Amino acid sequence: MLRTHTCGELRSEHVGQRVTLCGWVDRTRDHGQTVFLDLRDRYGRTQVMVSPDSGAEALQIAKDLRGEDVALFSGTVRPRLEGKSNEKLDTGEIELVADEVRLLNRCLTPPFFPNQAELPGEETRLKYRYIDLRRESMQQTLILRSRIIKAMRDYFAEHNFIDVETPILGRSTPEGARDYLVPSRVHWGKFFALPQSPQLYKQILMVAGYDRYMQVARCFRDEDLRADRQPEFTQLDLEMSFVDAEDIIGMIDGLMKRLAKEFLGIDLQLPLPRITYDEAMRRFGHDAPDIRYGMEIVDASSLARQTEFRVFRGAVDGGGFVRGIKIEKRAEEFSRKRIDELTEFVKHDFGAKGLAWLRCEADGTLWSPISKNLEPAVLDGFKTAFACQPGDLILLLADSWEVTCKGLHGLRKRLGAELQMYDPKQMNFSWVVEFPMFDRDPEEERWVAMHHPFTAPRPQDLAKLKESPAECRAVAYDLVINGYEAGGGTIRIHDSEVQQSVFDLLGITPEIAKNRFGFLLDALRYGAPPHGGIALGIDRVVMLFGGLDNIRDCIAFPKTQRAMDLMTEAPGDVEGKQMKELHIQIETPPVKK
Ligand code: AMO
Ligand code: AMP
Repeated sequence: MLRTHTCGELRSEHVGQRVTLCGWVDRTRDHGQTVFLDLRDRYGRTQVMVSPDSGAEALQIAKDLRGEDVALFSGTVRPRLEGKSNEKLDTGEIELVADEVRLLNRCLTPPFFPNQAELPGEETRLKYRYIDLRRESMQQTLILRSRIIKAMRDYFAEHNFIDVETPILGRSTPEGARDYLVPSRVHWGKFFALPQSPQLYKQILMVAGYDRYMQVARCFRDEDLRADRQPEFTQLDLEMSFVDAEDIIGMIDGLMKRLAKEFLGIDLQLPLPRITYDEAMRRFGHDAPDIRYGMEIVDASSLARQTEFRVFRGAVDGGGFVRGIKIEKRAEEFSRKRIDELTEFVKHDFGAKGLAWLRCEADGTLWSPISKNLEPAVLDGFKTAFACQPGDLILLLADSWEVTCKGLHGLRKRLGAELQMYDPKQMNFSWVVEFPMFDRDPEEERWVAMHHPFTAPRPQDLAKLKESPAECRAVAYDLVINGYEAGGGTIRIHDSEVQQSVFDLLGITPEIAKNRFGFLLDALRYGAPPHGGIALGIDRVVMLFGGLDNIRDCIAFPKTQRAMDLMTEAPGDVEGKQMKELHIQIETPPVKK
């Protein structure tokens, strides 16, 4: 070993010892006669002093050191001078008086310094990821990630789960996103698909008798990226046999309690609260609601039926809804300009036709530019429905169910943050259960699976599969943390007949089913136990436990919003020879005008 200690290790008890430290030069302060430096590694920082007593050569090398050079210092530990100790630093009581200084490697002038307060743009950070990863906060997050994964593995090992790896090169799994494909060299014109999740394999493992499977599994989905989505991400994936939803939820409840205690110091009360999908949409307009704050949606459609005001009446007469949220006691913070901005926001982002508002005045009456259009009884009705107090502001959308859900969720989310309605450190864990089995694909006018096509309907809804698919509810559950979907799972269909009827509904013909998932349908006929499971998004869990708002900061080498790795410049070109071997030709891209 070049070093005797790390840069985070030395304390008062080491005073008088001879030590050697290696690391990156974090800061240097040249006082002419003496040079003070902070030497950094991932364990911490230590102050080093080099003076004429260290020898002329050592002093000269120290004077020539620049930020991010890699250096070695040997010498003796001594207490810092009276009043010079640094309480913010674990090593702040001591310093190393060096008598040997070695430059191990020079650093080019970096595009930015890991310790600089103002960060450069994310492109620069991603291109020079090795510099960015030197930053303390990045290191803390990756260490947290490693510890969380370890705690998860420990927990599942204690509960008798076995870790089984499943293929990366496989067949397409229908999780609803586009596949990443890998051409086969050996089989002309055939492709592997990278797994969107290990879904089919883990079900097959249950048929094979491997009850309690788990895996830290890499998943690949070619979808539109957002702050909480990556094309390549990691799941804590699991599957269990002879279970119902309670068993899976209970297992994850236990895991969350353990993680919350260990990493957040929070004592979670179990069972974690649950609401149904329908209730979530009614109260919050979203299937992963942030319930750290109120501002719940109120449905005022029945009032809208009693008015002649065309905007409200027209909406309900056309099968729509009038729903709104109330901001308590803060109407004075909403100027016309701010309300206009919110109106633009709901129009632009959610396709709303407008935003109506009502303010509760000091005398308790409701006022707004539209109040003259509303009959006194209707105004009173709004006041009662929203339980208005002076200073309250009501925001209303008159639109389809979907637009009122999306728009009010958007407003709730935006205003919750802008008005600081919750402590960002506060954590909320809950379950959303009983999702619909199917969703309507508006473009193609057909049913699509809300989760995936292997999800079991609730036993009491089996008949609805044929009669009223829209009302059929699934045995599905999502774990929601602070308004993010942190995990999702279902009980699976273990009966090939039911599986076939779900495929029928989804327009997956017996031929397609046989071709794509024939092996699963076969397996279900060879003694499949009732089974179910869940997958947690590890990147998202780390983001939430780390108090971050961007999943890219939780991944060592993430991709950009445009699905590129800026450091390696992937995806990149390949040689003509490779393409030939794969029997692939590239069409010339259309010329951009
Ligand atoms: P699902 O598709 O809900 O379920 O995924 C499970 C969890 O994975 C995380 N996740 C993502 N994280 C980052 N980037 C993405 N693009 C991304 N997509 C999903 C989310 C999500 O809750 N096979 C099923 C699980 C099962 O039924 O057991 C599945 O993959 O946190
Ligand atoms: P208009 O008569 O269309 O100008 O609308 C009168 C008021 O109602 C304006 O403040 C609009 O922003 C609002 N408004 C219009 N359409 C809707 C809608 N669909 N939902 C809520 N408010 C609306």
